[in-house]
Amino acid sequence: MSLRDRKIIVTGGPTREWIDPVRYISNASSGKMGVALADAAHAVSGETVFIHGPMDNSLLSGRPFRITGVESTEDLLEAVMGELTGGAVLIMAAAPADYRPAERSNLKIKKSSDELRIDLVKNPDILKTVASRKAADPSLAGLFVVGFAAETHDVEAYALSKLKEKDLDMICLNDVAREGAGFSTDTNIVVVFTRDGERLDFPLMTKRDLAAGILEKIEAELGRRDR
Ligand code: CTP
Repeated sequence: MSLRDRKIIVTGGPTREWIDPVRYISNASSGKMGVALADAAHAVSGETVFIHGPMDNSLLSGRPFRITGVESTEDLLEAVMGELTGGAVLIMAAAPADYRPAERSNLKIKKSSDELRIDLVKNPDILKTVASRKAADPSLAGLFVVGFAAETHDVEAYALSKLKEKDLDMICLNDVAREGAGFSTDTNIVVVFTRDGERLDFPLMTKRDLAAGILEKIEAELGRRDR
């Protein structure tokens, strides 16, 4: 089955975890890589859905594919699980917050003390949850899963361990410490590793060209699998 006949689910942007009604924990993800991937997915697939956390809405305007906005990592998990089908491709470019406040205050926290400690609890890992669901449900055996790894040090080792631990078909390593790679830029530098041990280095390029290259690589991997 080619990409044309597969649903492509792309996630992008950060998530937001509220501390009180005016403050939250989040991260520097802009969602630009996710939007570029959703654009590239729409160009090659009959059905694309983009699920994103809070981001600049002007980056989304006029897009011809289905768009779902979410806020927290738990919301993102629910939205992703609701879209999974056996023939789908999931591209997890989102940067979900790994922790959330143990309690969300309904009232604004006042600055009454000199120090403030906020207890955080771990959020679910979406890709690991997808992997368990896939292992438990034979109808999802054909699901193709792509992860991202944003790293600043020991970049390859971390990317390869995520590929394995999250049972991914492909991982896109993004060394965010390098000039031209990272969160709010329009360019990126990515190395792709596949489940079968293949490596593909993309030079510094626009997120748009990179997204098209990643989709091409996914198509090639699916083609190999079908042969
Ligand atoms: N991811 C996920 N669920 C989370 C956090 C991350 O599914 N709660 C996904 C991201 O979308 C990405 C991949 O896992 O595709 C790797 O994300 P990254 O933030 O690099 O790694 P973490 O697993 O969060 O590990 P760490 O923060 O320790 O590097």
